Amino acid sequence: MSILERVQTFLLQSLGWSIDIHQPTFEAKLKRICKELSFDVLQPCVESLQERETDSKTIEAFARQFSVGESYFFRNLQFYEYFEHTVIPKIVQKNERTLFIWSVGCSSGEELYSIAMILKNSILDIGMWKLYLLGTDVNPHAISQANSGVFTKFSFRQTPKHYMHYFKADNGSYKIAPEIKKMVQFRYHNIMSEPSSCLPPDAQRFDLILLKNVLIYFDSESAKTVANSLFHLLKEGGYLATTPAEYGEGVFNFPHSKYLPDACMIQKEFKPHEEIIIPKNEPEIIESVIENLLESVPKPKPQELQLDEKSKQSCYYDALKLLKIGDSEGAKVYLRHALYCDKNLVMAHILLGNILKKEQKLESAKKHINNAKTILIHMPPQEVVELSDGIMASDLLFMINSIKGEEFE
Ligand SMILES: C[S@@+](CC[C@H](N)C(=O)[O-])C[C@H]1O[C@@H](n2cnc3c(N)ncnc32)[C@H](O)[C@@H]1O
Repeated sequence: MSILERVQTFLLQSLGWSIDIHQPTFEAKLKRICKELSFDVLQPCVESLQERETDSKTIEAFARQFSVGESYFFRNLQFYEYFEHTVIPKIVQKNERTLFIWSVGCSSGEELYSIAMILKNSILDIGMWKLYLLGTDVNPHAISQANSGVFTKFSFRQTPKHYMHYFKADNGSYKIAPEIKKMVQFRYHNIMSEPSSCLPPDAQRFDLILLKNVLIYFDSESAKTVANSLFHLLKEGGYLATTPAEYGEGVFNFPHSKYLPDACMIQKEFKPHEEIIIPKNEPEIIESVIENLLESVPKPKPQELQLDEKSKQSCYYDALKLLKIGDSEGAKVYLRHALYCDKNLVMAHILLGNILKKEQKLESAKKHINNAKTILIHMPPQEVVELSDGIMASDLLFMINSIKGEEFE
């Protein structure tokens, strides 16, 4: 494999991008990346990519050079009109006063700020709502621009006049009003990695995820994976907004789509709650333990807990509930979030290991089961394992060690 092909593979695996290595500026960009990563010559820099796969500094360096971050306010105007006149009234009707929105690949933030301005204009008591408006991007430069809230005239090519009062002109640039800025938050995140760190508080899901003008450089397999994992993070009735440009064949294989001239709204269907389907294949590992838990999911006592504790517990119980209705994809998201809150949560490791084993992802399954074993070995034998419904560490360790077969050895 040539040096350039190695870089191409790295970009595909780490960022999902299918980039033409023959484009004239490719090598020049690569040289700049090597310099940023403190290499004098290309060869050792490229050879080190394999080991640096998960190193965010490397990903950031590539994103800075290769990502195309053009954005402007109210881009794909028909989408914003649909959001304002169709989506918002439905959300207001629910009378829950909560709203969770994620702009994926937000670039310099114009997309999320446009949403915030619409909300401010159309919901009178928006100040009383629990809002989580998150923008993420893999390009750290774009994120710092978004956080600055300062824009040039190129960001305003499609902005309806009645939103201009939210900007203050200053020496050729325009600063967004503090009342809009405080509604949003921006963060670095690579959409090819776990989305759990982006989940809304209290293990909620999203009302709307914007995935506009992002997948254009993705290969179709990575695009499908991203589309699926985001769709999964929607509430029932929630929307995934995308554009015709990235609507490649088979990428968005979901029903309930509304095609607008410049956008596509995919709505997650409402499930009739009485039709709960019990999965045919019961979990195999320590079946009795997990079954007991599924039978009587105890309620956490939120008022006695710290925020992190509350979110790890509620994630864990939500995962159990999802598993009960056969939604193992959803269960995995919540278990990973629980482990993000507490990497020593034995029961989450065991449950995740079990799901992964059923999916034949034996290496990852083994990793979680071994984590659980290591944690248990270091616990006092008589100590009751958290969230296990009263099982002592030594007993749980014994159960894991006596799983039939040597599947995890
Ligand atoms: C063309 S901009 C679109 C901005 C905005 N969504 C819009 O429609 O105006 C595409 C953005 O997607 C981001 N992006 C590309 N790949 C990404 C990835 N793997 N994870 C997160 N963001 C990514 C790029 O850095 C870039 O800022």
